[in-house]
Amino acid sequence: TYVVTDNCIGCKYTDCVSVCPVDCFYEGENMLVIDPDECIDCGVCEPECPADAIRADTEGGMEKWVAFNAKYAALWPVITEAKEPLPEADALDGQSDKLETLFS
Ligand code: SF4
Ligand code: F3S
Repeated sequence: TYVVTDNCIGCKYTDCVSVCPVDCFYEGENMLVIDPDECIDCGVCEPECPADAIRADTEGGMEKWVAFNAKYAALWPVITEAKEPLPEADALDGQSDKLETLFS
């Protein structure tokens, strides 16, 4: 599966949504997640994210993000169409500690 990681927080560019063939992105207040059970592993979304926030779970250290994505995919509504990024997207792209300071 692919997963959304912390640099999506506060950005939410949503380019990923428009390319996913199975509509498996879910939308929280300030980030998206992928439902790991629905993702077909096509990899199309990964290069589309301007914030480089999408990762394959085959990369090391992704267990935490797979669990995070699964947890919130079950709680948040599906998003099937791209929308405007969050207003601070460009300013927050690349900021560290987003999960601790910005996630809501
Ligand atoms: Fe959707 Fe493919 Fe990305 Fe999985 S890897 S979230 S199926 S675009
Ligand atoms: Fe987030 Fe990147 Fe998609 S910032 S909304 S994972 S395009």
